[in-house]
Amino acid sequence: MDERARLDGAAEASCGLAQGGGQGEKAASAAGEPAGTKRPCVLVGVTGCIAAYKACEVVRGLQKAGVRAKVVMTEHATEFVRPTTFRALTHEPVAVGLFDEPGDPIHHVSLAQECDAFVIAPCTANVVAKLACGLADDLLTTTALATTAPLVVAPAMNVHMHENAATQENLRVLAARGVTLVEVEEGYLACGDVGKGRLADVDAIVAAALRAAGVRRDLEGRHVLVTAGPTEEPLDPVRCLTNRSSGKTGYAIARAAVRRGARATLVSGPVALEAPEGVQVVRVRTACDMLAAAEEAFPQADIAVFCAAVADMRPERVAPRKLKKGRDDDALASVRLVPNPDVLATCAARKRSGQVVVGFAAETDDVVESARAKLASKHADLVVANDVSDGRAFGSDDNEVWFVTADDVRAVPRLSKDRLADEVLDAALKARG
Ligand code: PMT
Repeated sequence: MDERARLDGAAEASCGLAQGGGQGEKAASAAGEPAGTKRPCVLVGVTGCIAAYKACEVVRGLQKAGVRAKVVMTEHATEFVRPTTFRALTHEPVAVGLFDEPGDPIHHVSLAQECDAFVIAPCTANVVAKLACGLADDLLTTTALATTAPLVVAPAMNVHMHENAATQENLRVLAARGVTLVEVEEGYLACGDVGKGRLADVDAIVAAALRAAGVRRDLEGRHVLVTAGPTEEPLDPVRCLTNRSSGKTGYAIARAAVRRGARATLVSGPVALEAPEGVQVVRVRTACDMLAAAEEAFPQADIAVFCAAVADMRPERVAPRKLKKGRDDDALASVRLVPNPDVLATCAARKRSGQVVVGFAAETDDVVESARAKLASKHADLVVANDVSDGRAFGSDDNEVWFVTADDVRAVPRLSKDRLADEVLDAALKARG
């Protein structure tokens, strides 16, 4: 069996977002996402409590972490927040009644199977009690009983209801069963009482839900800089020298960094991609602009990934008006090119201790050897080498690469660029030691 074929199986088994073991892939295709993205899915249960509006922030927090959020509500919850609000936030149908989904007679089972974690926030004393007893008399509680995904419960209620021995006993039963409880907070309650009963901090609920869904947050507190896309080097006001980089790889890396908890700055050449949620995007056109933007962000970066296909050369002169056949034949026939600065090499030369620099190498032959040379000459800690002969890698949704470090070469089989992004970040963390 060839080396790549052997690795194919290994990567399928080891890679990325199958974390949580739920049915994210089914969820991804249902949402019309590209195959292989496998976004984890968290089901948010909302019950009838004044804190129901905070479930909107829970949904947003999950989405910012790259998670697909779906919502199921109790009838009482709809008295506080309309399903329309959650539908608008999630772009998903919002389930309330057991028989609301005519096309799906066993809706609670589909919801239960689809999610990688089920977080009920806020969870009233009544629903805590139902969960403890295994009662299933509406869609939310039926789904809770039917799911095998981890359950996270964030209670919210009046202080006396919370202190009540029955509630305390029910919470103990849930904890003993492995349910993650996100403890109520102390403070001013909507009923006017002061004490323990407030819904926990939204960030704490989101963090618990992400942990339960198996979403990695190993880049929390880190800053990741990514360069992506091509550069455009103008020849005249309408023509330029560029290449076919789509930006897909760099954008996927920035997205993955944010999903894993990092702050991300994406210095992007001209591409047709939307700014990823939660990523600071600095749009540039030329190599010189890209250098300026990268130099500004680089000192704060813990990991810098130079994925952009920067034009090595630019026309020495930019004509102030469109060069015309006939009139400007001489200028067109002898366009003189001058070298562009090397964004990666310039930044890496100023690398401070603890920073990791990742370069890419686009090669058509001697892929690994050339990458090794670039690793040394550009002072990178890791070079991701790809074979771009026949235009491969540019614009595609997947790629196969080699990770080249000073003492190792690892072939990574063909993966979607989203999954490859996680592999690149893992390798960068490893290269840091
Ligand atoms: O954007 P996609 O469509 O997803 O395509 C992905 C990709 C093919 C662009 C990507 O996988 C890739 O290979 N990017 C690097 C392309 C490239 O310019 O390779 P290079 O071997 O010419 O350059 C080596 C490294 O030096 C790269 O990290 C590059 O960003 C950097 N460089 C190069 C020239 C220059 N003037 N400044 C630089 O920083």
